[in-house]
Amino acid sequence: MRSSNTVPRVCVIVVAAGSGTRLGAEVPKAFVALGGFTLLERSLHAVSRMQERPQVIVVAPAPLVDEASALSTTALGTTTLGETPIVVAGGETRQRSVARGLARVAESVEVVLVHDAARALAPSSLFDVVIAEVDARGEGVIPGLPVTDTIKRVDAAGDIHETLDRSVLSAVQTPQGFPRATLDAAYAAATSDETDDAGLVAALGHRVFVVPGDELAFKITTPADLTRAEHVLGEALIPVPRIGVGTDTHAFDTDPGSELWLAGLHWPGEVGLAGHSDGDAVAHAITDALLSACGLGDIGGVFGTSDPQFVGAHGDVFLRETRRRVELAGFRIGNVSVQLIGNRPKFSPRRPEAEAVLSSLLGAPVSVSATTTDGLGFTGRGEGIAAIATASVVARPVG
Ligand code: CTP
Ligand code: MG
Repeated sequence: MRSSNTVPRVCVIVVAAGSGTRLGAEVPKAFVALGGFTLLERSLHAVSRMQERPQVIVVAPAPLVDEASALSTTALGTTTLGETPIVVAGGETRQRSVARGLARVAESVEVVLVHDAARALAPSSLFDVVIAEVDARGEGVIPGLPVTDTIKRVDAAGDIHETLDRSVLSAVQTPQGFPRATLDAAYAAATSDETDDAGLVAALGHRVFVVPGDELAFKITTPADLTRAEHVLGEALIPVPRIGVGTDTHAFDTDPGSELWLAGLHWPGEVGLAGHSDGDAVAHAITDALLSACGLGDIGGVFGTSDPQFVGAHGDVFLRETRRRVELAGFRIGNVSVQLIGNRPKFSPRRPEAEAVLSSLLGAPVSVSATTTDGLGFTGRGEGIAAIATASVVARPVG
């Protein structure tokens, strides 16, 4: 649950004032686009999804403070206690940029998180975990991942002096979280220039804990990192199909003169199925599977089990309207597979015909199979017919 506090207890400082020399883009790194949003916006999207509503301070290059302000306000929406985020100009080094942000932290704030805008894909869950760990330990907490490469200490000439024991190494990330007083004290006492905040806090003699980081929180430093981020996003954009299942059962009509409609076809000479509509169990199972795949409810809820306009209605009425609703909800039908269970009619001779009719109604491949139940149950005794359908749908790309 997002807490509904009106006074921020947590502040997130997003440092975005670097020039991005190693990336070598035309604009400072935080303003480089990644899948339609700048790195700064993507970092703020994660902040906007945090459990707790924080004060947000963005540190931007001096000439881009106004641009950062506009981007930040939109990216954060209404998630920052109704206030527009504070945007300040950064300094010469990361540490100086953080110090500029720290100077604007609200009085009520007890926990400060510092985050690199360059870690644009860090998930909001990582922010939540860091806050929870700072609360639990009362000390600084930073995310880190085990080091997989063998690390050597080398000099400028390339001479190796040492192979470090990687089992005790951690590649640390942001957001880094600290009790506010600890971080304030570390910055007030700073004598060295560190590349992260934990370094300064540790220099003051405070403990800082490493908790498991996230692969997605990698820092975009070089063009190859940007390509990696594009790939990660590309994969996330591949739509995941949704699946729905539907079943239906109808008894054979007691009136031997009634007509059979099944799988969208008329079956002359066969006894019909009882039901409010034409009792086409195949069409009804498909309808339920499609509605379920899209989260649109079920056939009873959508069409009404007693609506007079569906008295004797054939399967095509249900399937056309279902397709319309599926598409209106932003989905495209992937495919439908349906199995008919019953002794009669003998289905296989007309399978291609049924598949063609149903596929054309839905604008997607429909396959129909049929089986008997070895004389068992109501279908085996010839009392009725059942059908089980599975449907897949995919979200239609926007635009
Ligand atoms: N940063 C900052 N102020 C600086 C330097 C860095 O706010 N004077 C921020 C960057 O914007 C980035 C984070 O600190 O989000 C991590 O720094 P880094 O990845 O080194 O970014 P840059 O300094 O921009 O890149 P480079 O070192 O390649 O120039
Ligand atoms: Mg740098």
